[in-house]
Amino acid sequence: MAKIEVKLADIPEGRNVTFKWRGKPLFIRHRLQSEIEKERSVVLSTLRDPQADEERVQNPKWLVLLGVCTHLGCVPVANAGDFGGYYCPCHGSHYDASGRIRKGPAPLNLEVPKYEFPEPGILLVG
Ligand code: FES
Repeated sequence: MAKIEVKLADIPEGRNVTFKWRGKPLFIRHRLQSEIEKERSVVLSTLRDPQADEERVQNPKWLVLLGVCTHLGCVPVANAGDFGGYYCPCHGSHYDASGRIRKGPAPLNLEVPKYEFPEPGILLVG
């Protein structure tokens, strides 16, 4: 299956860029320090699909997600919603800046695909 290589220098801090990968949207977010700190301070028992931010990222600056809502598969909007991450306009699911479901009908966190950093500044997804 095809892999996608992304040059991280092209994604400024604070931005989420959408790529197309295996026919699906792929979100790559260059997180701000404030977002990292906020997501790391979330109490896991308050989450519907409890997962620590540390389990969802390899490098805290880079969040890699499939942009497919876990409710019925719409594409969430970045930097929107009540939790500063993503908002799915189809039925109102709110995800945080770790891609975790926080409010609305979606049952699960946004999926994190398999990826690696084969060399500094390069992300390889797939
Ligand atoms: Fe996203 Fe329903 S498909 S909230």
